[in-house]
Amino acid sequence: MNMKKVLSLLAAGAFAMFAFAGCGGDQAAAPAGGDKQAKVLKVGSSIDFPPFEFQDEGQKDYQGFDMDLIRAIGKEMGREVEIQNLGFDGLIPALQGKSIDVAISGMTINDERKANVRFSEPYYQSGLTMVVRQDEEAIKKFADLKGKKVAVQIGTTSAAEVKKIEGVEVKELNTPADCFMELKAKGVDAVVNDRPVNDYFITKNAAQGVKTLEEKLTAEDYGIAINKDNEELQKEINAALKKLKENGEYDKIFAKWFGEKK
Ligand code: ARG
Repeated sequence: MNMKKVLSLLAAGAFAMFAFAGCGGDQAAAPAGGDKQAKVLKVGSSIDFPPFEFQDEGQKDYQGFDMDLIRAIGKEMGREVEIQNLGFDGLIPALQGKSIDVAISGMTINDERKANVRFSEPYYQSGLTMVVRQDEEAIKKFADLKGKKVAVQIGTTSAAEVKKIEGVEVKELNTPADCFMELKAKGVDAVVNDRPVNDYFITKNAAQGVKTLEEKLTAEDYGIAINKDNEELQKEINAALKKLKENGEYDKIFAKWFGEKK
């Protein structure tokens, strides 16, 4: 009897060891769930920049060229894309704090930013132009801004560039829409902002008393910003971008938002 007890205890022990090993197996499988988590690509964007990123009233999804592009990139990489709306001047800090993996936001590639983040290959050629009221006579070029009030979006290349023009009073506002509102309300004499966004704004507001001037203050390239430590992700993003350019998907997205292929 005693022997039987011992044997059954041993058997129970052996079973327990099996169960434990099984458990270990389960745990070894657990990182798969973790991988799933890592598969979400956390994207930050300042959703205030039509036709690159915007949200129409009553629409749930963010729309625009950048939104379509990053979703296509995510698809190419086999990662689910989750987009967070952040203030433009909060994007680089969010990358540095790792609350997002990438930022796509019509962001110009420049050396100052390169000190803090990595960039993908350029994906769009842009530049800065100026919008004034339709009846504006005194401002025909950037040099005419001396002694004038100019609205720009905070944290942008427009803000940096306009500050370089001597004698300009710069008003830094949260969004381009705020800048255009300020222009119409005559709180400023001009808005400096990215050309495609100005053109889109003018097209949409054709009858509303503003015009865009021809002169370009700068030529700029947009890139997707990535955390400075994450070279691997930069490579993956560039590979996906390259693929989309080769397979025609990039051109499709471009044509959807800008009409002709560039
Ligand atoms: N291209 C400019 C810059 O990088 C403006 C970008 C603003 N983007 C936005 N989503 N509001 O500074």
